[in-house]
Parts: sequence; C-alpha cells; structure tokens
Amino acid sequence: MFDFIFHNSTKIIFGKKALENFAPEIPVESKIMITYGGTSARRYGVLDKVKTALGGYDLTEFGGIEPNPEYETLMKGVKLAQKSKINFLLAVGGGSVIDGAKFMAAAIPFKEEPAFLLENAGRNIARALPVGTVVTLPASGSEMNNRAVITRKALKLKQAIMNDLLYPKFSVCDPTLTFTLPVKFTGNGVVDTFVHVLEQYLTYPVNGKVQDRLAEGLLLMLIEEGPRALTDPKDYDTRANLMWGATLGLNGLIGAGVPQDWAAHRGGYELTVLYGLDHAQTLACLVPAMMKIRAGEKKEKLLQYAERIWGIKSGDENKRIDEAINKTREFFESMGLPTRLRAYGIEKKSIDEILEKLTEHGMTNLGERKEVTLEIMRKILENCL
Ligand code: NZQ
Ligand code: ZN
Repeated sequence: MFDFIFHNSTKIIFGKKALENFAPEIPVESKIMITYGGTSARRYGVLDKVKTALGGYDLTEFGGIEPNPEYETLMKGVKLAQKSKINFLLAVGGGSVIDGAKFMAAAIPFKEEPAFLLENAGRNIARALPVGTVVTLPASGSEMNNRAVITRKALKLKQAIMNDLLYPKFSVCDPTLTFTLPVKFTGNGVVDTFVHVLEQYLTYPVNGKVQDRLAEGLLLMLIEEGPRALTDPKDYDTRANLMWGATLGLNGLIGAGVPQDWAAHRGGYELTVLYGLDHAQTLACLVPAMMKIRAGEKKEKLLQYAERIWGIKSGDENKRIDEAINKTREFFESMGLPTRLRAYGIEKKSIDEILEKLTEHGMTNLGERKEVTLEIMRKILENCL
C-alpha cells in the first residue's frame, strides 16, 4: 500500500429527516445564495422545502445551472453574489449544480480573472466561500470531495479543479429526493459511480486489501441495487444505498493509498464537449474498451475483478477477462446506457478530432502508469465504435 494522508472535512446529514436538520449548520447572520439547475428542484418541491428549512435567513436564488456547468453561466452567479454580498452558497441539485457552486465559491473572492482558477486546476485557490449541498442526484461524489469540473463551451474544454478549500461544509443526503429521477439519470448515476470505483480499483495490485474489499463491496452493491432503482424508483432502501454508495465512491476513501487511473474520465470529457454525450455515457463506451486494450497492463486486477465481482473462475486468463468485459458491458446496457460510440452517432472519422483535442489539452500520457499514449487511445476509441 502507498503512503497516504486522508482527510475529509464534509459533514454528511443523511436520511428522511435530513432536510429538517441542516439549517443550524449555517451561521445565522449568513447571506445565502441558493443555487440550482434547470427545472427539477422547483418542479419537485425541493426548493420550497429548502427555503422553508431556512426561514429567517437572508436568501438569494441563482438558478439555470446546466448539466456540465458552464463558465459563462457561473460567472453570472459570481456577479450576482458579489453584488449581493453573499457569504454562503447552498447548492441544490446533482454534480453539475454542486460543482458550479464550488467554482463560484472560489471565484467570488478571487481578485484576478476567474478563468485562471481553471487554468491552474484550482491550485491557486487561496480563499473560498463555504458551500453546503442538498443532493438530488447521486453520482459525482461532489457532495463529499474537493473537486469540481467546469465546462468552457467556447473553448470546447472541460476542466477539473481540485483544492481542499472546496470540500462542502455539509451535505444533505435525503434519498427520497431521488425518487423523481427518471430512468436515464438513475442509470447515469449508477454507471458513473461504478466507474469512479473502477478508476481507483482496476489498476495494479499494491496489496491494498482494505481498499480492494471496500471497492468490491461498492461494485456488488451497484450491480444489486442499480437495476432495482429502475424498476422500483421509490424504494427508499435502494435509493439510500445508491446515494451513500455514490458518496463513498469518490470521497477519497477507497482511493487513498492505491494507484488511480482516470483515463476513461479524461477521454470522456472530450466526448462530452465535442458531441454532447452525458458524462456517464462517455464512460459506458470507454471503460469496456479500456479494459480490452489495456488488459496486459491491468491483468492481475482484471482477473481479481472477474472472479470477485462476476464469479468468473474458470477458463484461461484471456477468456476470463473477456467474459468480465462482456458482463460489464451488459450491466451498463441494462442500466440504459449504450456502450458503443456509433449509438451516439460517432463514427471512425471522429477519432482524429478527439485525439487532437486530447493533444491540445496536454492529455497524451494518461492512466495509472501514464501508459495511455495517443496511440493507445486511438486503439481504445476504435474499440468503442
Ligand atoms: O437541471 P435540472 O432540471 O435540475 O435537471 C437535472 C439535470 O438535467 C436532473 N436532476 C437532478 N436531480 C433530479 C433531476 N431530475 C429529476 N429528479 C431529481 N431529483 O438531472 C440532470 C443531470 O444532472 P447533473 O447534475 O448534470 O448530473 P450529475 O450528478 O451526473 O453531474 C454531472 C456533472 O458532474 C461532473 C461531470 O463532469 C458533470 O459535469 N463530475 C464531477 C465530479 C466531481 N466533482 O468529483 C466527478 C465526476 O466524475 C464528474 O466528472
Ligand atoms: Zn464521473
């Protein structure tokens, strides 16, 4: 196991009564800006519940944060917050709204051009407003981590920032708020969580038995509960397991002390900015192909994954790995996500364009051993078609 420091400062307020219990976490004199997405928070009454819980506070609202939150949109929120002297942000939504709030939290007190925060991957964040979150879509893990991913549409660029000042102060995780998620977003959330776990698990062995068993537990839970959430979307325990699983999938716990990959995520960003695929859809295509093309590099963990997750114990090594890849693909498809780029209208001729973007963004050596060169990425993309 590698050396590590693990610190996570976010308080999780979980359960059916979570919305009734979070207000005391915010100092009474705060000027709060509630941020949200398109229509769901209002339509399903979450916004009203939040405002009721915050009766007596000074509230400002900023809505309209889109999936894959855009810099230009968020800068409008930054200006509003500066004008209204906001000193607390409360994000009500999924990963996009939470990430957007984290970026705004750093941009509001920033004296220079906020784009510099993105260009420096958040390393230059010296101050950030406190952020609280009310999660309505479990997937990103953003409610308990120090990351945000922001899109710059004009530049066709998705940029991640990371800084410990971005950990939310608290996150309200009420599984009943996810009962309204349509099949598409439920499926996306399960696949994104599954891949967060894989990015931290499916690398090479370092004898991190704690991390491996935690990761395997989360994967097995997702395989069990994911399909249930599609057929019984209002089952509390199913939603609760998916919600807590998404948080634990990317809050630093399972990745501490082990190698991490993230090549599928980074490649996926280009597919989103170029062709508009949802974040999880990009992963559903790239991950089975990554497993196949990088099977040599990942052999030991792939065999472990095949045996412990899918019960595949017999046959030669290549056959076992192929079977595990097929099972993974079937699982993603069963959650409603096509796993071939052609299903999203992306043809072989697009591959050069994707590789050009990766080059432009300096992403030419990805993965746990930096072995995913452009040449390997080409093979991976060809395998996704
Ligand atoms: O905009 P509204 O109308 O609110 O609808 C949203 C949105 O269209 C809808 N939704 C959310 N909660 C709902 C609901 N619909 C019905 N009922 C509810 N309870 O869901 C749609 C998608 O929301 P979004 O927030 O975009 O989804 P997700 O949570 O998957 O977030 C995706 C973003 O997270 C980033 C991705 O790159 C992407 O930008 N990620 C952030 C990470 C992080 N901060 O650590 C890591 C992840 O790997 C990921 O990259
Ligand atoms: Zn993700």
